[in-house]
Amino acid sequence: MSHPDVMDKLVSLCKRRGFIFQSSEIYGGTGSVWDYGPLGVELKKNIKDRWWHAMVRSRDDIEGLDAAILMHPRTWEASGHVAGFVDPLVDCKTCKGRFRADKLEDAKCPQKPSKQPGQHEACALTEARQFNLMFKTHMGALEESASIVYLRPETAQGIFVNFLNVQQSMRQKVPFGIAQIGKAFRNEITPGNFIFRTREFEQMEMQFFVEPGTDMDWFETWKALRMQWHLDLGLSPDRLKFHQHTAGELAHYARAAFDVTFDFGGTLGYQEIEGVHNRSDFDLMQHQQYSSKKLEYFDQVNNKRYVPYVIETSVGADRVTLAALVNAYREEAVEGEAEGRVVLGLHPSIAPIKAAVFPLTKKDGQPEVAKRILEDLRGAFTVDYDETGSIGKRYRRQDEVGTPFCITVDGQSTGDNTVTVRDRDSLSQDRVDASQLKAYLAGKLAS
Ligand code: GAP
Repeated sequence: MSHPDVMDKLVSLCKRRGFIFQSSEIYGGTGSVWDYGPLGVELKKNIKDRWWHAMVRSRDDIEGLDAAILMHPRTWEASGHVAGFVDPLVDCKTCKGRFRADKLEDAKCPQKPSKQPGQHEACALTEARQFNLMFKTHMGALEESASIVYLRPETAQGIFVNFLNVQQSMRQKVPFGIAQIGKAFRNEITPGNFIFRTREFEQMEMQFFVEPGTDMDWFETWKALRMQWHLDLGLSPDRLKFHQHTAGELAHYARAAFDVTFDFGGTLGYQEIEGVHNRSDFDLMQHQQYSSKKLEYFDQVNNKRYVPYVIETSVGADRVTLAALVNAYREEAVEGEAEGRVVLGLHPSIAPIKAAVFPLTKKDGQPEVAKRILEDLRGAFTVDYDETGSIGKRYRRQDEVGTPFCITVDGQSTGDNTVTVRDRDSLSQDRVDASQLKAYLAGKLAS
């Protein structure tokens, strides 16, 4: 059975507590573009940092890259995006709605939401036409066809065109990979479901260059590693599964593809959060042909030249952020209290605030001690200070944004320099010497 639908509650929590706002909200919003607020930017940054650490910093065989968003327009001819990155689109002459012709069953007729477009008697759908999803703009002062450039629809091509630059400058030997995190843009026809499908989003992509013939072994290796990364992020095993692309689903560049899918609950259910693709030598061959520059690797040991095959892992930073939020959201009864609590049970390493410090009262020197502790912890962790409202209310506020630890300074603290540390999930409280707090929190956060 699918998990419950928490999307509406999450959208509201994310706005109220500073995670995610609609872009340009005061002007009525920009369609399917979102802004990350103070807590959202920390959450997404923590997720990107975990990815960067796992893919780049902890390995010798993957190098980092930050390629530009604007690329030579020939890039997108070579990659197949100019000709093939299209969705079939139909318009309704009655309601002026616009729908993906191949996904009509997922859409609702705006005039009769119980029916799909085309099924209501007033619907007047046009013939399907191909709509390219790339955003076009112009480079330089002249708006003419020669100056057209595109906002990149994937970060991958920046890696392919830099394959030899990175390999030679870093003296890497095949097999090795190049990883980058960056913005991508797609003029999606039917975006939606909050930050699940947006027109501006961030990808975390890695291209692993391998000798032809070894590609399927590497494909299996990366499939397993990437699933483990999502599990280590705290996504529930019972919400994650692979989906294998059938021959009909495979992208034009793919020899084999698996999606890591996550159960977002409700009717959205299992959806792709990451793609693992065997892209063969498609991209390097295409760029070789379109640029007339050799993109071969010279294997010195075996004295042979070849164009490597590529195993790609491609994950959306925003989609994983949404998966982490959905996965973490829970409502709980609290013993002895009429009101329950909302908790974001985020993995502590990605929680936007690691610890909140409270003085139990605003007198007896407690705020001063609490602020000293706050300043001491600030260098090592993201911390928050709160002295307003009852202690119960302050706990609830931190639970709702996923803060794993709350530190309370009380009457005893000013005497013996100890504080209580309350655990978000178990609700257990430890009495800890304030001078040991950094080590205590570091130990808990590392586990
Ligand atoms: N380079 C391969 C590639 O881009 P993709 O399956 O089109 O493959 C990879 O995209 C990942 O990027 C997806 O699994 C998803 O997480 C994210 N993604 C793609 N389109 C998106 C969109 N419109 N909004 C948010 N994330 C998106």
